[in-house]
Amino acid sequence: MEKILDIISKKMAQAFEAAGYDAAFGKVTVSNRPDLCEYQCNGALAAAKQYKCAPIQIANAVAEKLDAADFSMIDAVMPGFINLKLSDAFLQNYLEQMRTAPDFGVEKLGAGKTVVVDYGGPNVAKPLHIGHLRSAIIGESLKRLYKFFGYNTIGDIHLGDWGLQMGLIIAELRCRQPELVYFDPDYTGEYPAEAPFTISELEEIYPAAAAKKKEDEAFAEEAHVATFELQNGRPGYRALWQHIMRLSLADMRKIYDDLDVHFESWLGESDADPYIPAMIADMKEKGYAVQSEGAWVIPVAEESDKKEVPPCILVKSDGSAIYATTDLATMVQRMQDFKPHKLFYITDKRQALHFEQVFRAAKKCGIVPEETELEHLGFGTMNGKDGKPFKTREGGVMRLEVLIREMTDFVRAKVVENKIVEDSEVEATTKKIAMAALKYGDLSNQPTKDYVFDMDRFAAFEGNTGPYILYTIVRIKSILAKYGAWENLPIQAAANVYAKELMLAITKLGPNLENALRTSAPNVICAYIYELAGCVNKFYHETRILTEEDKSLQAGYIALIALAKNILEQCIALLGFSAPEKM
Ligand code: ARG
Repeated sequence: MEKILDIISKKMAQAFEAAGYDAAFGKVTVSNRPDLCEYQCNGALAAAKQYKCAPIQIANAVAEKLDAADFSMIDAVMPGFINLKLSDAFLQNYLEQMRTAPDFGVEKLGAGKTVVVDYGGPNVAKPLHIGHLRSAIIGESLKRLYKFFGYNTIGDIHLGDWGLQMGLIIAELRCRQPELVYFDPDYTGEYPAEAPFTISELEEIYPAAAAKKKEDEAFAEEAHVATFELQNGRPGYRALWQHIMRLSLADMRKIYDDLDVHFESWLGESDADPYIPAMIADMKEKGYAVQSEGAWVIPVAEESDKKEVPPCILVKSDGSAIYATTDLATMVQRMQDFKPHKLFYITDKRQALHFEQVFRAAKKCGIVPEETELEHLGFGTMNGKDGKPFKTREGGVMRLEVLIREMTDFVRAKVVENKIVEDSEVEATTKKIAMAALKYGDLSNQPTKDYVFDMDRFAAFEGNTGPYILYTIVRIKSILAKYGAWENLPIQAAANVYAKELMLAITKLGPNLENALRTSAPNVICAYIYELAGCVNKFYHETRILTEEDKSLQAGYIALIALAKNILEQCIALLGFSAPEKM
């Protein structure tokens, strides 16, 4: 569906033309004085310079030419503004179209286009911690938004499963249990199906090995060798790696499922490995890769750089590939498999330079064609109330499952205390409210900014929070349930000023979702539904709905709040959570 601003801008342009002026002056904007009008056009002021006459004269002439059926107010005011309010008929008609069109008539801007969203990015064998939360939450939301706009969308978790952490675990295991068959170079039999460690042992092995590496140079060297041998296919190490992957992934899947975060593709850095040799050979042959202090690098500095952008390192002097290498090789794979229009990465903003280097190298070497868009969304830090990166009470990094559990326990206590639902519903309802609190608490902030994690505030049922949005939806659902069959009632003309405000808010769905998509900003969706929920609640407080005796009027109220509910539900689905039946 065409957006309202576009429709009335067109009408305004025609009115300028009909009055004898250039149609280009007929641009309409949302009013910056909502107390006076809903939309406005300032074109007469600019036109006055060209036509050398008083702006108000032009504004008056243009206002004459507008179709009075579309507007309940057309006001030409000094010095030459044209102030507008939409007519009831226009709004009714527009909302009825939104109600009956697929996806509320939002235009499918992504039809025929493919985007790969790279988010999550957990590292195998290391527990997920809160640093991975934002990538998961923001990435999932943006991915859903792309899907909504009709893009063919592939969310790829891009596991960190190939680096030194693997070598560290193998080396540490070798110190502890050198007798295991995995370390016997002459062994030719089958390797055991069961891993020689549990997931909790694995989670203890990694930090122990990482700490040892810092103090013990010989051990660090062993870990490097183990990494190198793993990557070069030493069978025992491959078998161990399989065990680590299986245990670690099962654990990860559980947590991502809990978060309602789902990836279409579970590839990792290791899957990029087969693409590396040919890619590097090509880069050397074409002269993009050059040698520098024993390493192979791609210079990516540009003249216009204000800060130094160091070369992108491809192969280190010890012959090993690094983070940038796997990212470039992954691009080769993604271009081959999906021919995407866009590659989109969501990570901590401290990786901004890495992506700048990789993007430049990819374009320079022709791995990614000029027209393919590359975007890195770097998000800020989740801080504690002290303004420092969020920590456990003991000062350590908080594991993601602990954070989720703490939020869930906090919400459950409220649900139980306020006797919100039957005992059998407590868990399911708690989970939905906790997710809303956690995700909205994060997503309502501009992604690039740091924010303070505040459980009390995020889980409050009032204020700009996820639970408040859920509460609004649940309230509408309960009215609809009491009313009866509401699904097919047509939209009516606004019955009062609160209805009209709600209708105007509903019309802004499309522009807000487009804005969120264009600026990679789920916070725009949050701000929109907060405004919409506010309009719903005002309307509800000022209007007798269920006790209204005029049945036709009542049907109109019901149709309006039902549309608002459907839109709110669609929007929270885009944010990655859903509403319970009761709250
Ligand atoms: N595993 C990485 C980390 O923990 C994040 C991966 C992000 N994605 C990428 N294609 N580099 O920092």
